[in-house]
Amino acid sequence: MKLVLLGPPGAGKGTQAAMLVEKLGIPQISTGDMLRAAVKAQSPMGMKAKECMDSGALVPDEVVVGIVRERLQENDCQAGFILDGFPRTVPQADALKDVLAELGKDLDSVVSLEVDTDALVERLTGRRTCGACGKGFHLKFDPPGVDGKCRACGGELVHRDDDKEVTIRNRMDVYHQQTAPLEDYYRKEGLLQAIDGMQEIFAVQQQIVSILQAV
Ligand code: AP5
Ligand code: MG
Repeated sequence: MKLVLLGPPGAGKGTQAAMLVEKLGIPQISTGDMLRAAVKAQSPMGMKAKECMDSGALVPDEVVVGIVRERLQENDCQAGFILDGFPRTVPQADALKDVLAELGKDLDSVVSLEVDTDALVERLTGRRTCGACGKGFHLKFDPPGVDGKCRACGGELVHRDDDKEVTIRNRMDVYHQQTAPLEDYYRKEGLLQAIDGMQEIFAVQQQIVSILQAV
């Protein structure tokens, strides 16, 4: 299964991708997670990306395309992959098409998660992520352990730097201007399946799974 999860910040791409990894045994490729790892490692690419990420802007296309191109060539992507947060611009979608063509592959489906703006803000301000294992939680909708630590490994939870309300609003604007056109792009290719991302986490997952079973 070669899948793209599309949707605005906080739509649930990472949450759903992590559940699909367990179900399908294929990797999640999150450009956001890979860029945050580069920032943490203070690599030259990470240092450059940090400025864009802190303001809620996109990192330049050539940087993310380069990361994804390398990642898709790894062995664990042979049976498929879940792209989470990529592509995010029309040039990125064109580049993905080229990279997949070089590898003799094609996308199977693009699932777009639709969520109201107010709900997105609530989801992002309440999001917490385990600093040790990366598992995501929400203080209200998917609470961590009773001690306020990660339910899976007991690690300390962190609040993402770009989950401040002012940066969230900027990320939403960027989404509408630069990423939303991909809905039409993939609709025209007959790949887009839009689903109601306002449902609770497991209902969204069930809907994605039934879409993928029909592909
Ligand atoms: P990235 O990390 O991709 O952030 P994003 O797209 O803004 O999306 P989020 O990770 O914030 O949201 P999500 O949809 O994964 O939601 P989640 O599942 O966590 O990118 C960060 C930055 O990196 C970008 O701003 C940019 O600078 C750069 N970047 C990354 N990719 C790039 C690219 N391709 N090109 C250029 N730049 C790039 O859920 C959110 C919360 O809601 C969680 O707490 C969760 O528990 C909760 N939740 C999830 N589903 C539900 C539900 N159904 N009901 C209730 N709560 C729910
Ligand atoms: Mg995410």
